[in-house]
Amino acid sequence: MMRVGVLASGGGSNFQALVEALNAERSAAQVVVLVCNVPGAKAIERAKAAGVAVEVIEHGRFGKDRAAFDAALVEALKQHRVELVCLAGFMRLVGQTLLSAFPQRVLNIHPALLPAFPGMHAQQQAVSYGVKVSGVTVHLVDEGTDTGPVVAQTAVPVLDDDDEQALASRILVEEHRIYPEVVKLFAAGKVKVEGRTVRISR
Ligand code: GRF
Repeated sequence: MMRVGVLASGGGSNFQALVEALNAERSAAQVVVLVCNVPGAKAIERAKAAGVAVEVIEHGRFGKDRAAFDAALVEALKQHRVELVCLAGFMRLVGQTLLSAFPQRVLNIHPALLPAFPGMHAQQQAVSYGVKVSGVTVHLVDEGTDTGPVVAQTAVPVLDDDDEQALASRILVEEHRIYPEVVKLFAAGKVKVEGRTVRISR
């Protein structure tokens, strides 16, 4: 069984989708901890309701010392013997301290088809640009913003009358499906990373 740690800052609907898809009996992967940097975030409530351990680590305590914040994240994740880290609406950049503790084992989910629309408000960026297709990307995390190797993508149509919220909701449905699927592939040892190419054997 692969032990999964989820890092979230907000609503935590992806955290919830991962727990619901994975924390069943005999699943090859299980969410064992939620690490949250925002006290009071809804994700924390969801974790408590689901009986998943919670670690709250406020980034503000570390001032500008990002390495120290990362080290605290690593310590919490290691305490729970996490093997795979899933960022799910985690609104802080992670750095080398965390990445080198979990080499090629830090994933992020982004609500656009990267490399289009990286960074914040990806759905609004897609609506403003006028693209006809957007979607969701699960990728390995590197030190850039949404720049790591792509593991999986799903396309979603952008409709003429979409606003940010309408598109975000349509994308979120796919996020909730694709993220657990990718985690299961990792747990089954079916993911191989060769430079920027991620090969999935099915
Ligand atoms: C999702 O759209 C995710 O792709 C983005 O932030 C949002 C988080 O939603 N990075 P939730 O907290 O999982 O509900």
